[in-house]
Amino acid sequence: MNRLFDFMLPPEKSTTAGEVDALFHFITEVSLILLLGITAVMLYFAFKYRRKSEDETTPLITHNNTLEITWSVIPLILVLIVFSWGYQGYLAKTNPPDDAYEIRAVATSWLWQFHYQNGHVSTNELHVPANRPVRIIMSSDDVIHSFYVPDYRVKMDVLPNRYTQVWFEATEPGESVLYCAEYCGTAHSDMLADVIVHTQEDFELWLETGDAIDEDLSPAELGEQLVQRQGCMACHSTDGTVLQGPSFLGAFGRDRELTDGTTVTIDENYIRQSLLEPNTQVAAGFQPIMPSYAASLNDRQIDAIIEYLKTLEE
Ligand code: CUA
Repeated sequence: MNRLFDFMLPPEKSTTAGEVDALFHFITEVSLILLLGITAVMLYFAFKYRRKSEDETTPLITHNNTLEITWSVIPLILVLIVFSWGYQGYLAKTNPPDDAYEIRAVATSWLWQFHYQNGHVSTNELHVPANRPVRIIMSSDDVIHSFYVPDYRVKMDVLPNRYTQVWFEATEPGESVLYCAEYCGTAHSDMLADVIVHTQEDFELWLETGDAIDEDLSPAELGEQLVQRQGCMACHSTDGTVLQGPSFLGAFGRDRELTDGTTVTIDENYIRQSLLEPNTQVAAGFQPIMPSYAASLNDRQIDAIIEYLKTLEE
């Protein structure tokens, strides 16, 4: 339904988005009516009771019970409506249905990893079935992040050392954007993921085959896709720019000084080790902040990334 202020809102793509919007519309429209009404009365009174002559005096008015009760009770009723409406929504949001499909999410500076019930892991892509409640159980590897999907009207902080959860039911297959909504450092604004909603059948298929659709890519092409999709670009550039991590441009084959003072040559083994146990060999001048990809990359994918990095010659 089209309503006033709809232009301010993203599309409603979850079963509970409409409820949230209804309350948003109620608050905004009531506020607008009150603003216009009170402003009109103020202007009218300012005009009607303006001082008309020099010797006119204002009568002494101490109070008016009817008026004071009216302007206290009406806002009280409005606030109570907003409170009980909001509380019902809060209860609905915090109690996922029993049959919800569970996905484990781990936030790390600055990427999202999702672990599915069959052991499958995806990075910066959250795959979910449509028309089925999905419960996300979340934790952080480092600082506080926040899981925010505007299309679903859900947002929940993601904390280190404790689980938080969020649930939603996507109404149709399609894509939405997941944002990190808690400032978490340099690449906070790059901490995005795609929410990919499949039909139930496609979701089962995706769970089984995962990224096997990449079979017909050359290793370097697959590597390029993985570097884009796995969140590497939040910290590493391919054009020589130094971000939170060293640039990939021309890195392969070069000598690199590490934080422990030793120097290594960037070869296949160095890259493999950097992906699986990144903090065992940190480049000098950089912080040990890279997350391990041991759970999310298989050997073929690691080979592909190595091949892609070889193509990035200066
Ligand atoms: Cu993670 Cu902001």
